Amino acid sequence: MTDSAPTPAMASEFSGVDPAADEVARREFRKTLGQFATGVTVMTGLGPSGERVGLTVNSFNSLSLDPPLILWSIAKTTAAFKCFQMSDAFAVNMLSAGQESWARQMAQSATDKFQGVKIRGGRGGVPLIEDCVAYFECDVWARYPGGDHDIIVGLVRRTMNTGKAPLLFHDGAFRSF
Ligand SMILES: Cc1cc2nc3c(=O)[nH]c(=O)nc-3n(C[C@H](O)[C@H](O)[C@H](O)COP(=O)(O)O)c2cc1C
Repeated sequence: MTDSAPTPAMASEFSGVDPAADEVARREFRKTLGQFATGVTVMTGLGPSGERVGLTVNSFNSLSLDPPLILWSIAKTTAAFKCFQMSDAFAVNMLSAGQESWARQMAQSATDKFQGVKIRGGRGGVPLIEDCVAYFECDVWARYPGGDHDIIVGLVRRTMNTGKAPLLFHDGAFRSF
């Protein structure tokens, strides 16, 4: 038997960028990460004096079904970092399509992040934002170092799914279906 299969054309070499090379490469790394389309969450918790804390987060992801675990990462530079490092509970508020303004407000430093936001008290008094797609009320299960972020793993104690359409984030812009 003769081997008559055509030889595949040699593919051109894949050229990538080392994200640590220089400032341009670092910007390109950020831009490339932004090509991953995500939902948008707000992580909420309570500070040491019982004050409400929160920040917009799109690093949220599922981790484990048994036990029920989720994860996200928090930049060490955020004002809320210490609170989320010290507290043992938090809530994931998965934003719905009409909640872009809350996503922007919760991503702004040095403002009253909860101004005008309709809140309900969740487990242990952790604030829950009304009209979200879904909620995960969590105890902190583990924390891991992750460069300029910490990874927080949450053990989900209570969850609720409202079936609303989600707010999306892609390439630096908020979107919806
Ligand atoms: C769409 C979007 C996603 C974000 N995701 C994260 C994230 O996963 N982790 C994080 O630490 N910051 C994230 N941020 C930035 C924080 O929301 C922002 O730095 C923080 O709210 C600043 O406020 P603070 O320093 O007062 O806490 C995100 C911002 C936006 C707009």
